[in-house]
Amino acid sequence: MPDKIMEVKDLYVRFYTYEGVVKAVDGVNLDVFRGETLGIVGETGSGKSVTTYAMMNMVPPPGKITKGTVIYRKDGKEYVLTEMPESEIRKLRGSDISRIFQEPKAALNPVYKVGDQVAEAILIHRRREMLERALESLQGSLVGLKRAVLERALKSEDDLLVRIVKRLPLVRRLYWSPVKAEARKEVVKILSLMGIPDPDRVYDMYPHELSGGMQQRIVIAIALSCNPQLLIADEPTTNLDVTVEAQILELMKELREKFGMTLVYITHDMGVIAEMSQRVAVMYAGNIVEIADVYTIFKKPMHPYTKGLLEAIPMPGRPLKDIPGTVPNLINPPSGCRFHPRCEHAMEKCKSSRPKLVEVEPGHWVACFLYHDEAEVSEE
Ligand SMILES: Nc1ncnc2c1ncn2[C@@H]1O[C@H](COP(=O)(O)OP(=O)(O)OP(=O)(O)O)[C@@H](O)[C@H]1O
Ligand code: SF4
Ligand SMILES: [Mg+2]
Repeated sequence: MPDKIMEVKDLYVRFYTYEGVVKAVDGVNLDVFRGETLGIVGETGSGKSVTTYAMMNMVPPPGKITKGTVIYRKDGKEYVLTEMPESEIRKLRGSDISRIFQEPKAALNPVYKVGDQVAEAILIHRRREMLERALESLQGSLVGLKRAVLERALKSEDDLLVRIVKRLPLVRRLYWSPVKAEARKEVVKILSLMGIPDPDRVYDMYPHELSGGMQQRIVIAIALSCNPQLLIADEPTTNLDVTVEAQILELMKELREKFGMTLVYITHDMGVIAEMSQRVAVMYAGNIVEIADVYTIFKKPMHPYTKGLLEAIPMPGRPLKDIPGTVPNLINPPSGCRFHPRCEHAMEKCKSSRPKLVEVEPGHWVACFLYHDEAEVSEE
């Protein structure tokens, strides 16, 4: 049995809007295995981002998880994210489960130096480590007061008195300058790992002074700064040109191997899926319709939607074939199998019953009545 780092069970997400209730995610079941790269693919609006927001229990309002469980596993312990208080989940976000957002411009603050933004992420989750390093770097030097302040802080970082005293300007300076110096060293190390030339100079630059590709490397650096176990990359190369995209994909693969991370990679591009993933989950209109290893998805796809996505890949000498129709409105989604209005194989049953995601051969799951008769019963 593969070791599951995350399990999503029977997940439902709704957005309560003026126009009506958007049934964005509807009964998703998904396992993520430790160390793998799982690709999630599907057209726009299929629920890729929302599903992975739910994996961090951070669905933005007016959205809500209305049913289902998300379990994160670490060191033999289970964390049921859908039941934990926000203050506890916050400790896992960033340090254990991290996310690279779709749009680097939105993820970076335009008025802060990029290096400080990476340092901030480090200091939120690895402050103690930076404090220890700062103390070490002071060993042997004649800065008694500075050492005393750092030693005291290290002993009782959470002590209320220490927290108050640290606000005094002199103490603040004595405490912060060595800790920040250590964080800066760590940031420069990470930026150079990201393939950023002259990282010490880039540290002091503002986002607008960097190209889109460089900005995205900074966003990745922020996500990786706390050595997460599970990294969710939500279309991190969408707005980059193809050569920069290729560099970022290469970098992500290298980093994944280097850190032994588990990666969930979201894209609507089947080419990127082939390049990045070991296993693939195909989403359509809030449902997962097929899961298999990447080779099977490309060589032996089963679901008519997956086949449609593959036929829509441009190939020399082959006419482009679009999937007919459009992505449905999720306020009033089609009954039964949500793909039925666009499916050339649709049967009477498909209009009234929703096919369950069933393992039809080892590791190959499909939600389609062409392969089994099992209908979904766990409606909300
Ligand atoms: N803040 C929101 N308010 C209302 N509906 C939302 C909100 N965010 C997402 N949705 C709806 O939830 C559904 C799933 O959206 P999601 O963003 O997960 O799609 P996606 O697969 O990530 O698409 P894309 O490829 O465009 O990023 C869509 O119908 C979308 O309109
Ligand atoms: S269940 Fe029916 S409508 Fe849905 S994909 Fe399969 S054949 Fe097509
Ligand atoms: Mg998205």
